[in-house]
Formats: sequence, structure tokens, C-alpha cells
Amino acid sequence: MVDENLSPIIVWLHWLVAAAVFFLFISSWWMLGLPLPSDNFTYRELPFQLHKNIGITLMLFVVVMIGNRTFLKRKQGELARTRLEKLAELDHLLTYLLLLVCCVSGYLSSSYSGWPTSFWWMLEFPAWTEEDDGLNILFSDLHLWSCWALLAVVSLHIAAVLYHAFSDATNIRKMFRL
Ligand code: HEM
Ligand code: HEM
Repeated sequence: MVDENLSPIIVWLHWLVAAAVFFLFISSWWMLGLPLPSDNFTYRELPFQLHKNIGITLMLFVVVMIGNRTFLKRKQGELARTRLEKLAELDHLLTYLLLLVCCVSGYLSSSYSGWPTSFWWMLEFPAWTEEDDGLNILFSDLHLWSCWALLAVVSLHIAAVLYHAFSDATNIRKMFRL
């Protein structure tokens, strides 16, 4: 379908991104269910930092995957031929776009919340903006809705993969072959 020889690095990145997305969804509801921070309750700090760190790392992986795809496209020319292949191509592009929107909106929401981001507890991100409740809520809403849209597109992706697994598994094998 898209390209026959995916590099093992891209296969690894695909599965890391997939695992990270599922983790971020499941852990976010636990994270937001914890009591708001105060002098006595600081439970939220660890899950929030973890969420942000995994999200930012995931974004770096996605940038590598998009770079690889753009480079391969240039080398191999038009790859999608049939209507189904074009649909799969569209689904992948939408997935990449939504992954980026989720990450950027999450980062902007966090930046306007006034809470610092420490990348894997090693690198303090510069506080480039003042706390702003209005913008925090705006980007938080965008984060929520883009994440739901991502979930919908990923569900379609998994359904398509399962459908193909029963009709022609050759295409599926490339994501399981290292
Ligand atoms: C959050 C979960 C997931 C995300 C974000 C995701 C994302 C993607 C993306 C962006 C591609 C295109 C890769 C490229 O060629 O540039 C892709 C391909 C693929 N994914 Fe996933 N994926 C997810 C879950 C899964 C799962 C659970 C399966 C298996 C059941 C799967 C199987 C595949 C296969 C077989 C391909 C190659 C299909 C093709 O080239 O048409 N993915 N995925
Ligand atoms: C694909 C990547 C991501 C996914 C799937 C994801 C998923 C989610 C989900 C489902 C929520 C709960 C929303 C709600 O119920 O209101 C959430 C909240 C949050 N996420 Fe993410 N996230 C991602 C990336 C990021 C990144 C990169 C950051 C920051 C650097 C971030 C920061 C936050 C923050 C601060 C919250 C809580 C406040 C809010 O609702 O905006 N997320 N995330």
C-alpha cells in the first residue's frame, strides 16, 4: 500500500507512538481526577510532568516519521494508486496532522497555565509567556477536541488494519516485521 520496505526505526517509532497515545489517553483521566494542587496536595505534579514529557517526546518521534515519509515520497513518487490506498494515505496524513495539533495545543495550554515544564526532569523549558486563563482554556479545549478527533481517526485506522488482515495481510506485515 504505502511503501513496501519500512525501516525498522519507523516500525519501532510507530509502536512507541501508538503505545504513548494510549497511555496519554488513559492516564489523562486519572491525572485530572487527582485533587487540585495545594501545599498539602502535590499529587498532580508527577503525572502532569509525565504526561507532558511523553507528549513532547512523542512529537519528536512524529516529526522523524513525517520527515521519513516526505523523503520516501520524494524518492518513490506517487505511491497510492487505488481509491482505498488513497483513503489510507489520507487517514495517515490526518493522523500525523492531529498528533501535531494535540501536542502543540497541549504545550500551549500548559504554557499559559503558568506551570513550568521540566523535560524528563533535566531541562527546564523557558517560561516564554505570562499566565493567561483565557488562552489556557482556549488551548485546553482545542487539546481536548483534537484528542477526541485523533481517537476517531485512530479507531478508523485500526478497523482498516483489521479489515486488511483478513483480506490481504501482505500490507500489514510491514508494521510487524523488524
Ligand atoms: C494510537 C495508535 C496508532 C497510531 C497513532 C498509528 C499511526 C500510524 C501512522 C501515522 C501510520 C502511517 C505510517 C507511514 O507510513 O508513515 C500507520 C501505519 C500502520 N499502522 Fe498504525 N497507528 C496506531 C495503531 C496501530 C495499531 C493498534 C495497529 C495494528 C493493529 C496498527 C497497524 C498499522 C499498520 C499495519 C500500518 C501500515 C499500513 C499501511 O501502510 O497502510 N497501527 N499507523
Ligand atoms: C498525542 C499527544 C497527546 C494526547 C493524546 C493527549 C491527551 C490528553 C487528554 C485526553 C487529556 C484530557 C483532556 C480533558 O479531559 O480535558 C489531556 C490533558 C492535558 N494534556 Fe495532553 N495529550 C497529548 C499531548 C500533550 C502535550 C505534548 C502536552 C504538553 C506539553 C499536554 C498537556 C496536557 C495538559 C496540561 C492537560 C490538562 C489540561 C488540559 O485539559 O489541557 N498534552 N491530554
